[in-house]
Amino acid sequence: MALYSDKVMDHFTNPRNVGKIEDADGIGEVGNAKCGDIMKIYLKIENDIITDVKFSTFGCGSAIASSSMATELIKGKPISQALELTNKAVAEALDGLPAHKMHCSVLAEEAIRSAIKDYYDKNGIAYDKAKFPDPHDEEEEHNFEEE
Ligand code: FES
Repeated sequence: MALYSDKVMDHFTNPRNVGKIEDADGIGEVGNAKCGDIMKIYLKIENDIITDVKFSTFGCGSAIASSSMATELIKGKPISQALELTNKAVAEALDGLPAHKMHCSVLAEEAIRSAIKDYYDKNGIAYDKAKFPDPHDEEEEHNFEEE
């Protein structure tokens, strides 16, 4: 069996929603401390709906395919739905990722969360902080340190 599904290859070679939104309402940037890959997500939000989303990813093929798929999954959706998007759902929508590449899809989940958090912060909207772990704590997580 091929290591990567046709969908992964499709989204890697022909990624959707690549780019930048100049007047974005929320921007999220996350990185993976181990591989050094970085993902940035831009959101345009109107009345709680994600009306537009773009990404730029400096990373591996799985990270690019995951960002592309994740943007497709949240475009036109309410924020509440985007917040529920898990990396597993992104990987499933891609017809799976190899086990050692699952962490790449985590970047997509985190980048979306971070962009929504940025939107909340910029607009003074209250939110449950526990739902938005600071991505900068990631290295500590890798060391399994207690907060
Ligand atoms: Fe870094 Fe895939 S190897 S995100």
